[in-house]
Amino acid sequence: MFRNFSTIVILHVALTLAMVHAQDDQSGFISIDCGITQGSNYTDSKTGLNYVSEAGFIDRGISQKIQPTYNSATLDFQLTTLTSFPQSTRNCYTLKPKQGKGNRYLIRARFNYGNYDLKGQPPQFDLYLGSDLWDTINFTKSLAMDYEIIHLTSSDYIHVCLVNVGLGTPFISALELRLLDSTMYPTRFKSLILFARSNFGTSETVRYEDDKYDRIWYTIFSNGTKDVQTSGPVSLGSSTTEKVPSKVMSTAITTTSPTNYLYYSWKSVNPSDEFYMYIHLAEIETLKSNQTREFNIYLNGYYWDGPVSPVDHTTSTLFSSFYNLSTYELKMNKTQNSTLPPIFNAIELYTAKQLLQWQTEDQDAAAIWSIKSTYGLKRNWQGDMCVPQTSVWDGLNCNYDDKGTPRIISMNLSSSGLSGEIAAALANLTMIQSLDLSYNNLTGTVPEFLSQLDFLKTLPLPAGLLAKSKNGGLLLSIEASSDADTTSCPKDSCKSNKHNKVVIPLISTFSALFVLLTILGILWIIKRRRTQGRIIRDELIGSRNQRFTLSEVQKITNSFSSVIGKGGFGTVFHGSIGENQVAVKMLSESSAQGYREFQAEVSLLMSVHHKNITSLVGYCNEGNHKGIIYEYLANESLEKHLLDGSPKVLSWEERLQIGYDAAQVIAGTPGYLDPEYYTTNRLTEKSDVYSFGVVLLELITSRPAISKDTYIINWVESMVAKGSVENIIDHRLHGLFDINTAWKVVELAMTCVVRTSVERPTMNDVVTDLKNCLKTEKARRGAKPNNLNAQMSLSLESMRGPNLR
Ligand SMILES: *[C@@H]1O[C@H](CO)[C@@H](O)[C@H](O)[C@H]1NC(C)=O
Ligand SMILES: *[C@@H]1O[C@H](CO)[C@@H](O)[C@H](O)[C@H]1NC(C)=O
Ligand SMILES: *[C@@H]1O[C@H](CO)[C@@H](O)[C@H](O)[C@H]1NC(C)=O
Ligand SMILES: *[C@@H]1O[C@H](CO)[C@@H](O)[C@H](O)[C@H]1NC(C)=O
Ligand SMILES: *[C@@H]1O[C@H](CO)[C@@H](O)[C@H](O)[C@H]1NC(C)=O
Ligand SMILES: *[C@@H]1O[C@H](CO)[C@@H](O)[C@H](O)[C@H]1NC(C)=O
Ligand SMILES: *[C@@H]1O[C@H](CO)[C@@H](O)[C@H](O)[C@H]1NC(C)=O
Ligand SMILES: *[C@@H]1O[C@H](CO)[C@@H](O)[C@H](O)[C@H]1NC(C)=O
Ligand SMILES: *[C@@H]1O[C@H](CO)[C@@H](O)[C@H](O)[C@H]1NC(C)=O
Ligand SMILES: *[C@@H]1O[C@H](CO)[C@@H](O)[C@H](O)[C@H]1NC(C)=O
Repeated sequence: MFRNFSTIVILHVALTLAMVHAQDDQSGFISIDCGITQGSNYTDSKTGLNYVSEAGFIDRGISQKIQPTYNSATLDFQLTTLTSFPQSTRNCYTLKPKQGKGNRYLIRARFNYGNYDLKGQPPQFDLYLGSDLWDTINFTKSLAMDYEIIHLTSSDYIHVCLVNVGLGTPFISALELRLLDSTMYPTRFKSLILFARSNFGTSETVRYEDDKYDRIWYTIFSNGTKDVQTSGPVSLGSSTTEKVPSKVMSTAITTTSPTNYLYYSWKSVNPSDEFYMYIHLAEIETLKSNQTREFNIYLNGYYWDGPVSPVDHTTSTLFSSFYNLSTYELKMNKTQNSTLPPIFNAIELYTAKQLLQWQTEDQDAAAIWSIKSTYGLKRNWQGDMCVPQTSVWDGLNCNYDDKGTPRIISMNLSSSGLSGEIAAALANLTMIQSLDLSYNNLTGTVPEFLSQLDFLKTLPLPAGLLAKSKNGGLLLSIEASSDADTTSCPKDSCKSNKHNKVVIPLISTFSALFVLLTILGILWIIKRRRTQGRIIRDELIGSRNQRFTLSEVQKITNSFSSVIGKGGFGTVFHGSIGENQVAVKMLSESSAQGYREFQAEVSLLMSVHHKNITSLVGYCNEGNHKGIIYEYLANESLEKHLLDGSPKVLSWEERLQIGYDAAQVIAGTPGYLDPEYYTTNRLTEKSDVYSFGVVLLELITSRPAISKDTYIINWVESMVAKGSVENIIDHRLHGLFDINTAWKVVELAMTCVVRTSVERPTMNDVVTDLKNCLKTEKARRGAKPNNLNAQMSLSLESMRGPNLR
């Protein structure tokens, strides 16, 4: 096979070319050029970005410069200086963007070694985002590296920390934070670590201000492809949220010959990495009337998406996530009818990581930072004060009972050279129990707020301060404290406002009552709904097996006005019988295959019914018009029952039972299409076996056959290769299955889906194997046989594929 171009993703390489200098809104940016003169700032001539020194973000580190031989006119100015941290193990920059928490930020750390230390050997160290490991900084690919993360913050403070792991002195050249639009990269729980961002068809790196979010769009070498470009702007289509700049979309590659395909591949560093892939496409050539461009996209040889026909000068983004594969190979191949080869504008790849974001509570953190700056404290106070627990700030103690947000419970600033008044920010340390400010030169009065700190028990204060106190009521009890170590203020006598004590329980009692009433109310409503639901269902059951005339069906569907799905066998319409919603699947008249399926489906649905699952209401068979009418439960599809989030988890035995039942009845009911169908245009009995294999996989994994994630067969294959059957079976079973049966069923399913049909077992073999598995499982659990019929329609539902949803 001829590979049109093959690419190795080169990331983290600093390359920037001349760019327009302009003033744009940088209010969502923090741009730090590490190593420049403390307190200085400048506007970068290439990008127009305003850089500041690190003063105010960190208070340690040594300014350094790269060796002149590593400098060049094209090198970003920020990469010519750096800050190194030979002293303590952990050094943190603290960023506090003014837009605060709950926003999505892009954070980029840039590192250019440039032999600054004349050792000729770059270090290796760890990069942390707060307490979460972000990445290991490794200079094996290049001496200049960029690391980037897209991160939804849950705290106002962002700590970027460099940790010495004993492999050389950590350093950093630049640190950049960019506020993104909240609609971009909409991931709720995971942060995205940049793996590659490639802009095709150009040799010019694109960033601010062509990209107003200042993503760096790296150039990439590709072999055997043709560059295309447009001078017109490329707008954003409705299917993209990533706001890819026009400049990036206006260049692309295509193949040199229409029959070739485009090829792009990458290897995961860690096979368990989960990849988020964003493919950005737009038509940027002017198509003649007799030209078409249409292509399919394959991942590791499996169909992934298509046919795709990029819209003229309009961006669309195809997204998917994949995991547990070590090699990824994308292939774009034109369809038969297309006269033009595929086109590829840009791609972004991220590895997704769930960060714990374990960080001190924001108000406590703000108070401590404020105290630090009020008194100009020069201790080694950096990063988060409570996390990690091994580097809690000197003089502080934290409570970790609430796992998400540690709280400050004590502060000892005894003998810290504090002068001036007591910082007002102390009032915000609402959980503090012990506060020691003794042996300082504090002046003024002890403020009243200290008496309102509910938990404050110990408060050793400097005698000088107390003498000047005007607030006798509270303070006289502390005044004895000329000996800072032992004085404590009995809580009750310290309290000037005893109302608190009374009010709190009152509120609690009231809220408890309120909560109780609310719960009772909700339960009542749920119960009522359930009852109603049952009545509706029973009515429908009563009316099933009914035969409808075509004119009745027309009435039900309001003359086939509302299409809710389209599949290989026909079209599904929405309709209603009285108050009940139905879905009507009409067979396409030409479909002989569909007719065979129609018969199988009707006869099966006639004989089975499951109260939880979409069931047959009736059918229509009038001349060429053949239709099946189902109860329509918009929210209760098969997926709801099988996939994560469903209320009821089918047991292992139930799953085997369903598989077994479906296998016995199933012949003649084609489901997910056998790949051989594409070459032979004929479905065989072995095609049913294939379809059945897919359903069986769905059944045991509770994953959809094809979704935004990878293809189910691919995924199971990779898990089998690792020998980890436990991870294949729906995790909600919590291992409640016999491992041998599990292996057998997985193997069986996988032999059903081998690509060449002759290698697949016959349906009879499948039935026999499943029967044995079921026996084993029953014997193991000593279970009574289930109501076999009850769940049959479940498997049918899944066999129908994309029609009824
Ligand atoms: C940049 O430095 C000038 C003085 O050289 C100062 O007036 C200005 O506030 C600084 N700007 C920033 C953003 O720090
Ligand atoms: C650093 O790079 C070397 C060489 O590629 C590799 O062997 C090593 O595993 C890398 N370390 C990390 C932590 O990625
Ligand atoms: C480009 O591809 C051709 C043919 O596949 C190969 O012979 C050539 O070495 C490649 N060039 C580079 C620079 O990789
Ligand atoms: C990938 O596989 C590992 C073990 O092999 C498992 O722990 C992990 O959950 C899998 N990842 C995903 C996203 O399923
Ligand atoms: C399309 O039309 C142009 C003339 O407008 C002609 O030269 C070309 O051969 C046609 N291409 C195809 C594939 O028919
Ligand atoms: C690309 O598609 C054509 C048909 O359009 C097919 O003949 C060819 O084998 C495909 N190539 C690959 C590599 O899939
Ligand atoms: C290809 O084009 C022909 C003629 O326009 C059409 O009948 C056929 O359905 C098309 N095939 C596909 C796969 O789109
Ligand atoms: C505060 O620290 C000093 C020594 O640094 C110690 O003597 C004193 O007991 C501490 N105070 C409290 C309340 O623990
Ligand atoms: C308090 O201030 C005086 C002079 O202003 C100084 O001599 C003394 O060392 C200070 N004491 C402390 C504990 O900082
Ligand atoms: C205390 O916290 C509140 C809310 O977080 C804040 O508005 C206020 O400015 C803080 N007070 C001080 C003195 O820092």
